[in-house]
Amino acid sequence: MDIALSKEDPAKLKADVLIYATTEDELKVVDTRFEKVLSNVVGSGDFTGEFGKLHMLYPKGIIGSERLLLLGLGKQKELDLERIRRAFATAVQSLSGFSVKSIAVHYLRPRGSEIVDSDIITCILEGLMLGNYRFSKYMTELKEKVKIDLHKVIIVGRAWKNIHQLEEVAEQVGIVCENVNFTRDLVNESGNITHPGMLENLTKHFASKHGFKLKVLHKDELTKLGLNLLLAVGRGSVYEPRLIIIEYNGDPKSREKIALVGKGITFDSGGLNLKPSGHIETMRLDMAGAATCLGVLRTAEQLRLRKNLVAILPTCENMIGPDAYKPGDIIKSYSGKTVEIANTDAEGRLVLADAITYAKKYYGPKIILDYATLTGSVVGTFGTFVTGLFTNDETLAEKIFSSGQRTFERVWRLPLYEEYREEIKSDIADLKNCTEDRYAGAITAAAFLEAFVDKTRWAHFDIAGSAWFEKQKFYIPKGGTGAGVRLTIELLKNL
Ligand code: BES
Ligand code: ZN
Ligand code: ZN
Repeated sequence: MDIALSKEDPAKLKADVLIYATTEDELKVVDTRFEKVLSNVVGSGDFTGEFGKLHMLYPKGIIGSERLLLLGLGKQKELDLERIRRAFATAVQSLSGFSVKSIAVHYLRPRGSEIVDSDIITCILEGLMLGNYRFSKYMTELKEKVKIDLHKVIIVGRAWKNIHQLEEVAEQVGIVCENVNFTRDLVNESGNITHPGMLENLTKHFASKHGFKLKVLHKDELTKLGLNLLLAVGRGSVYEPRLIIIEYNGDPKSREKIALVGKGITFDSGGLNLKPSGHIETMRLDMAGAATCLGVLRTAEQLRLRKNLVAILPTCENMIGPDAYKPGDIIKSYSGKTVEIANTDAEGRLVLADAITYAKKYYGPKIILDYATLTGSVVGTFGTFVTGLFTNDETLAEKIFSSGQRTFERVWRLPLYEEYREEIKSDIADLKNCTEDRYAGAITAAAFLEAFVDKTRWAHFDIAGSAWFEKQKFYIPKGGTGAGVRLTIELLKNL
């Protein structure tokens, strides 16, 4: 998508629609260039600038654009970055079905506002680009009607002094949003299409396109090395497991690496502890952690971030089959620790444990960040609006928290106390993969991962709630949300 900034007179711009966004406060000081079109509407009281309210006009011959869409931003004192995202998402969604390919945006920073121009531009673009998303590839009839085919956005700011810097920001936001939508697409993709081999092919395609270093370990190598937890989880499926290792080296002078580990269960049936109806239907989402890592890696490369990243993606399908792993099995992990399988549906922590060990053995990363749709428990705790955060590092906790606030991909930290570590000790092995009572399920799952991380600086994102929405909300669509991509890019810039 083409993104441009302009200092031109917005009335002269020729776009399919010009969005005129204004707070209630500013509506009274209507821009003189629009006076002709606006005075009647404002005078009638039909448009008051109330938050999220829209009013469409067709002022042919008066302004350069085909349509003028008035967008209310509400009270100036209540305006914040999230409200800007939400308002612009509402605006773009109101256009679905229209033949609009280009949008111009007229939005003056309110006088006295503390919000800076670069943030305003960021949130306008996020609202438009993330709000205009639908997983529509399988719709044969309504495809064109459910979103607009947006090719160009021009944002106008007549008073901008540092337009070149702002242009750079805008370009970066465009890249980030495209990758959030890429992550959403990958999570939403049909479960009969997504399997470990498909993820391998996809990463091969990126590797050759973007110059990533790629290594994919197949069943025989995994067996030779002893990634037995990953192998065990994958044994019930016709598709063989893979460990996908993909590197972006944006800072070749440094030897420091950050490992991104992503849960890549392409379908989680629960295994022999089969999930019941009502819980199984959406389980193609269980590779969202891996999808987030890929989204982050692609963004980092396109932004040329000066960081060395290695994404380690354990991927397999948790199914039932003659050779499926069973409750009561004891399996020796890649780390050497033995694990009692208390429940085959607690598979995410198993594949992550081996991937974390691999990350440590081969890359000795400075930091490990892992992303996983790990527990139903975190959904019970936070619902879908907050990601569960676990970390053994205070500085990391603070940086992640503030990145979450800035991007509105909010996280909340849960504790890793000694008592929880006790809970996952087994009578017949070193560890068990879940407790009988399931109390504090998100925490005991994280404590299990911690046993494999040991002393490395680490953060675990339980995105089981935030990676998937049951219904669309503002700029977050129903289905895969792309959770974690924007937060992580913001975090990486500050690490
Ligand atoms: N993939 C699920 C977690 C999940 C639940 C993700 C709901 C998204 C929405 C995970 O593998 C799982 O099944 N966890 C179990 C663990 C339990 C058996 C200890 C859970 O949370 O119920
Ligand atoms: Zn499961
Ligand atoms: Zn799972």
